[in-house]
Amino acid sequence: MSIQTPEELARLRAAGRIVREMLGAMRQQARAGVTTAELDNIGIEVMRRNGARSAPAMVYGFPGASCISVNEEAVHGIPSKRTLREGDLVKLDVTIEKDGFMADAAVTVPIGKVSPRKQELMHCAKRAFDQAMLVARAGVRVSEIGRAVEYEVKRSGFSVIRELGGHGIGRTIHEAPSIPNYPDPAANEILTEGLVITVEPIIAAGSGRSVLARDGWTIRTADRQPSAHYEHTIVITTGEPILLTTA
Ligand code: CO
Repeated sequence: MSIQTPEELARLRAAGRIVREMLGAMRQQARAGVTTAELDNIGIEVMRRNGARSAPAMVYGFPGASCISVNEEAVHGIPSKRTLREGDLVKLDVTIEKDGFMADAAVTVPIGKVSPRKQELMHCAKRAFDQAMLVARAGVRVSEIGRAVEYEVKRSGFSVIRELGGHGIGRTIHEAPSIPNYPDPAANEILTEGLVITVEPIIAAGSGRSVLARDGWTIRTADRQPSAHYEHTIVITTGEPILLTTA
């Protein structure tokens, strides 16, 4: 959506705050011995307190409140009895609806001590996001976001998962335009003031090729190399974007 009124911005900020609170609470409890279903329940409790609903469950019938993906799982992991172990890299991806507005963010959380390569991958996803924030401005082509993301990822020796990327958001989860994590020539829309989008580097060690897992939801790397994800919902302005889901 494109924000037209201060009320719309206020509602989106409210949705963004709930996402932030959920991710904070879930990340705090993410440690060895905890199941991904237990983390999901922590998020559910925050939603309940705030009168919010899980957007993926609402819109797509996703079998969980949040997407929780581990190691080679990139996105859309289903919360389960799987117990987190020391060395796991966990991606928490939360999208909620509150009063008709939606916000979406993701973080990568290390469980205990992770390998240096996983650590570097995790930091790279955040750096790629930060680089995208330097170019995401009204008047700029969407493909410049992907150019900034992929440049940083390749420079670090990793790959973007090309099938996955950011998107317009606001009234529902996935709105136009798509925000690829590479300079796709088809992403030739011009960013406009007030446009609400997610920017979300979803990256991997290895080739970056991805496959759908047998559960029909989880997307994992084809070569089973680890993946990292970092995402916020932002509002495009003529200057620095407004981050709706940051701490
Ligand atoms: Co998203």
